[in-house]
Amino acid sequence: MLEIKHLNKSFGSRKIITDLNLVIEDKKTLAIVGPSGGGKTTLLRCLAGLETIDSGELLLDGKVFHPDEMENASQIVGIVFQDFQLFPHLSVLENITLAPEMVLKKSKKEAAKDVEPLIEQLQIDNLIQQYPYQLSGGQKQRVAIARALAMKPRILGYDEPTSALDPELRQEVENLITSLKKSGMTQIIVTHDLAFAEKVADQMLKVAPVK
Ligand SMILES: Nc1ncnc2c1ncn2[C@@H]1O[C@H](COP(=O)(O)OP(=O)(O)O)[C@@H](O)[C@H]1O
Ligand SMILES: [Mg+2]
Repeated sequence: MLEIKHLNKSFGSRKIITDLNLVIEDKKTLAIVGPSGGGKTTLLRCLAGLETIDSGELLLDGKVFHPDEMENASQIVGIVFQDFQLFPHLSVLENITLAPEMVLKKSKKEAAKDVEPLIEQLQIDNLIQQYPYQLSGGQKQRVAIARALAMKPRILGYDEPTSALDPELRQEVENLITSLKKSGMTQIIVTHDLAFAEKVADQMLKVAPVK
């Protein structure tokens, strides 16, 4: 279980997140819905340790953790970024095995072996030697999901998973999220797409625009 307690985050004098309190139970899918500029991406970045928080607490199974001080924060909350943020000079396989090699100190061979089931699950077997520029948006998203899951995170967070995709791929993401949920993954989906959120989520949080 992930708990967020009294989280506050400002950029300069602008308050972006004000006293956010939230509990995410294991194996549930939480959607955070709100308008552009509402702080959704910032929240994911705080959970992943990519931004510091001003005050408040993050707890995993009742224990406080500080993602911004951890090298392996992506083992708690792994993120699928809105623009995927794949490394352009690395193949799909290298993108997926980079963090296990760098952070978990696995050998190339071991890392590649460990991600085989993931690659199969996400149906990207035929893409592993390709480079990001050769992939469609939907394929990049699958690779980004595989890359996040390669760190075996407790929670998978998605930033606007439908925004970079053609409408017909929306169903595909929905299926992916549903199948990961069935496999027991805890997920946080931030989106401005209320209809999508209502379809995939067990729990919804609506955030208000920042004043
Ligand atoms: N690193 C930053 N420095 C200053 N302002 C930022 C930074 N990141 C985001 N912001 C601002 O914080 C607000 C919330 O942004 P964001 O979290 O991206 O919202 P959302 O994802 O809900 O659209 C926006 O007004 C944005 O301009
Ligand atoms: Mg955003």
